[in-house]
Amino acid sequence: MKKRILVVITGGIAAYKTADVVRKLVKRGMDVRVIMTSAATSFVTPLTFQTLSGNPVGVDMFGDSRPEDALTHISAAVWAELVLVCPATANFIAKLAHGLADDLCSSTLLATRAPMLVCPAMNDGMWDNPATRENIDKLRTRHIDFIGPEVGGLACKTEGKGRMSEPDSILVKVERHFQRKNRPKVIVTAGGTRESLDGVRVLTNLSTGRLGAEIVDVCTEKQFDVIWIHGVNAEKPRSHCIEVRADTVAEVESALRKHLAESDVVALVHCMAISDFCVSGVLTLEEGFSIFSKAKNVKEAEEECIQRAVKSKSNGNQKIPSGQTILPVLIPGKKLIDSVREWAKNAELFLVSFKLTSGVSMSERIAISKKQLANTNSDLVVANDSEQLSPDCHEACFVTSSKVDGPYIGKRIIAQKLVENLLIHTSPA
Ligand SMILES: Cc1cc2nc3c(=O)[nH]c(=O)nc-3n(C[C@H](O)[C@H](O)[C@H](O)COP(=O)(O)O)c2cc1C
Repeated sequence: MKKRILVVITGGIAAYKTADVVRKLVKRGMDVRVIMTSAATSFVTPLTFQTLSGNPVGVDMFGDSRPEDALTHISAAVWAELVLVCPATANFIAKLAHGLADDLCSSTLLATRAPMLVCPAMNDGMWDNPATRENIDKLRTRHIDFIGPEVGGLACKTEGKGRMSEPDSILVKVERHFQRKNRPKVIVTAGGTRESLDGVRVLTNLSTGRLGAEIVDVCTEKQFDVIWIHGVNAEKPRSHCIEVRADTVAEVESALRKHLAESDVVALVHCMAISDFCVSGVLTLEEGFSIFSKAKNVKEAEEECIQRAVKSKSNGNQKIPSGQTILPVLIPGKKLIDSVREWAKNAELFLVSFKLTSGVSMSERIAISKKQLANTNSDLVVANDSEQLSPDCHEACFVTSSKVDGPYIGKRIIAQKLVENLLIHTSPA
């Protein structure tokens, strides 16, 4: 299949070099689409790029001049496997850093989830300006990669840093980006599961999937390919990854079985909040009362509750009538983490599991995590406590058989430290 690359041309004098870049990308068998800012069209014409790419060129988000089959900001954003901004003006870099979306190019880039390679080209004063420096730093933290600029003669007849990289070196970077076949894979599970109570209601948890998304992003930045197995409301990573939606425990199990069977999976970071309970079914208050009054002991009551609840669930997708007190019967669910070693094709799989305690001291937290380390055969347990956990803040220690690291504070820091461990133990290409 052809690689789909979206070339975004902005209004710098180096835009003439982009014609050569597009020509060479097409020659290498890539499917190239081009969008341009209005300023870019003062330097080079859409017709040039339409001819070179063999595709209509998008410029205006609203105007009548937009060809019928030109890309809209959403279609281009979704279509692209890689976005190449070439050249990138100081102005466009500033817009990108601040999330502006006032034309076709900036709107497309705000909407896309594809990885981005940006080729800055500008006067050295613009490049050195603290505003540009801050914008570049900001974009780097969002895993946007830069090609150049180089030091050399500039269009403004000065020498300095700001010259756009030559088409051949841009091509090498693009090709390198696509040569990802042999990159080791990491599976990251994230978000919360949900189990149905009836046809319309679910039992779920408060996991946001935010830490998982950070871990996916840092893994990608460090040259891993990521399979992201996630619940319905999990926060999306910025970076490109293989997405596998899995809402229920059973769906997560089947996704894990499938992907752990791949021999190039080197690590599993299992941070999904998997339900500890399965829903057997729901009893009415009368049914519950009758069971508890007749049962000889707790065990008998439990068995009867489960049996009756399972029968009630066979009503399938029906909605339980409201206006009555109900007794959901929840039984302990399967601990998937106990089986992952068995499912993994790679005997050397680096396994990271998470232990959430609730209001215990640090020493207790570590003791509980050590137990999990042994019971699950994990290589590392991320120990967190619900009292140090919120959507925006997170504190965690890393427990291995030989040491305890941390506490690390903040989801981004935890993700970075965790991926450092993956790098040490799995050494990607
Ligand atoms: C002749 C000329 C050359 C320019 N070259 C550059 C350049 O190389 N880099 C840059 O950042 N801006 C350059 N500019 C300024 C941009 O064109 C200007 O900031 C414009 O608003 C950028 O719009 P855009 O980012 O939407 O494409 C140049 C302007 C002119 C008139």
